[in-house]
Amino acid sequence: MGAILNEIWRRSPNAIDLLTTKLGKLELKTPLSVASGTFDLENLEFFDESCLGAFVCKTITRYPKHGNPPPRLYETEAGLINSIGLQNPGLDNFIAEKLPLYRERLRLPLIVSISGSSISEFEYILSRLETCPGISGYEINISCPNVENEGIAFGVCPDVVFDLLTKISPMTSRELCVKLSPNVTDIAQIAKAAESGGASSLAMINSVWGMAINYRNGKSHIKKGVAGYTGIGIKPIALALTYKAAQAVNIPILAMGGIYNWKDALEFIWAGASAIAIGTANFVNPLAAPELIMGLGEYLLENDLKITDLIGKVSF
Ligand SMILES: Cc1cc2nc3c(=O)[nH]c(=O)nc-3n(C[C@H](O)[C@H](O)[C@H](O)COP(=O)(O)O)c2cc1C
Repeated sequence: MGAILNEIWRRSPNAIDLLTTKLGKLELKTPLSVASGTFDLENLEFFDESCLGAFVCKTITRYPKHGNPPPRLYETEAGLINSIGLQNPGLDNFIAEKLPLYRERLRLPLIVSISGSSISEFEYILSRLETCPGISGYEINISCPNVENEGIAFGVCPDVVFDLLTKISPMTSRELCVKLSPNVTDIAQIAKAAESGGASSLAMINSVWGMAINYRNGKSHIKKGVAGYTGIGIKPIALALTYKAAQAVNIPILAMGGIYNWKDALEFIWAGASAIAIGTANFVNPLAAPELIMGLGEYLLENDLKITDLIGKVSF
């Protein structure tokens, strides 16, 4: 796959600039990243990581989580329903075991996704990770219940998002990206609250509420019932929310939600995304990432364009 970027660069002396983009403080060699929870080091056995601009890992919490009971994955006619429940090894194990693997293997900016059940828990996780080398940034997953706020998800209240960000943003000089939930009344308010609180970029969208029921016997396909809907069916929702957020803020957006190929990626860039990520498509096509970058590179070369020429330039 290094060969793919080499081929793009060989065909144009300026091609190295075609795909480069910025996500807040990070210069990305390509605009493509991977969505938290859908990709890990084993996926890199299928292709060379040079087609990626950054690597976002599965969300880490303070303590290990076993996740929700099965069944917790169901493929619908148009995308996936999941209730994995943030299964992860917890902060201590992540720092001791996972992070060294990432440091050894990755030649890409590593963005660590974190989640907490209170503002002080976010602060604690961040303070520990700040002592660890090899991390380029954080993705703050706010689609989780806040125990200090009656279990209402952090990401639905602009005041809470602002409060969280004002507390954690002074703690780091690394990239601070806030991952937004689509399950809100007004995404612009949440995006603005994250920006005013000190976020340097946004990632969006997390999964949409969804449900799947066996029509014959009425049994939910997912043990927990309501779960997270991702993949092809959420693309128009993700596109609209990306557009709305991009209109509301000046910080860059890492967009995801139903991106399967370079054409999908371009739609998000026109809507206002500075970078894009592949999530559910990684389960369908392990080569989605290199194919996307090859297609995007060819489109840009053929049309004599750079990614940065297109960001937010949708017309009506
Ligand atoms: C199986 C699975 C696990 C996920 N785990 C996480 C996670 O740990 N943290 C997170 O922020 N998002 C998680 N997500 C959401 C994705 O990162 C992404 O926001 C969402 O899937 C939308 O993108 P897509 O339609 O391309 O999949 C998960 C999604 C799936 C399908």
